[in-house]
Amino acid sequence: MSKTAKPIKDSKTEMNELVMPNDTNPLGNLMGGNLMRWMDIASGICAAKHCGAHVVTVSVDHLTFSEPIKLGDVVTIRAEVTRAFNTSIEIFLEVFTRGMLEENSRKSNQAFFTFVALDERSMRPKVVPEVIPETEEEKKLFDEAIIRREMRLVLSGKMKPSEAKFSMDFLNQ
Ligand SMILES: CC(C)(COP(=O)(O)OP(=O)(O)OC[C@H]1O[C@@H](n2cnc3c(N)ncnc32)[C@H](O)[C@@H]1OP(=O)(O)O)[C@@H](O)C(=O)NCCC(=O)NCCS
Repeated sequence: MSKTAKPIKDSKTEMNELVMPNDTNPLGNLMGGNLMRWMDIASGICAAKHCGAHVVTVSVDHLTFSEPIKLGDVVTIRAEVTRAFNTSIEIFLEVFTRGMLEENSRKSNQAFFTFVALDERSMRPKVVPEVIPETEEEKKLFDEAIIRREMRLVLSGKMKPSEAKFSMDFLNQ
């Protein structure tokens, strides 16, 4: 474990938004693209805090929309680091929604966003601090992140399927 390794809890980020008329589609529901923008902001804040550097979004994966979010709903986005690789970092996002006057919120979305940290001078990718997973959930997300990484690199053409060791082991289980 490197000296710069950081616990996940140090960069956990929560963001609240109220769905306004300008955020909705003609059906009165939050537009998916607006939710993605908020998720990008929340996860970008989380990634930059962990990395102590400017970051750029390099991949958005497994974004699910399980139910519509309505005009006037309160949207809470929670972002946490799962694992750092070399210059990139994976963030897990969960979205919870409730009516303005409701007490309980329901989970409406989740996704994994990947960011790359940039060196401020060269604007080239720079090495990011390692992650210290502490809870059982954090350890599970940490362990599985290596498989998700290979899958996204294969799907984006950055890795040959024959080089994907961990995900092949996982699929053969
Ligand atoms: C992110 C960026 C700097 C990477 O540049 P690059 O020359 O591809 O750099 P590398 O090949 O060294 O990759 C850097 C890291 O990104 C990762 N990466 C590259 N493409 C990826 C993809 N599609 N999915 C996941 N990770 C990816 C690499 O695995 C590497 O991570 P690692 O060091 O942890 O192994 C460059 O692609 C870029 O500027 N993209 C645009 C980012 C942006 O503007 N985002 C906002 C969108 S509007």
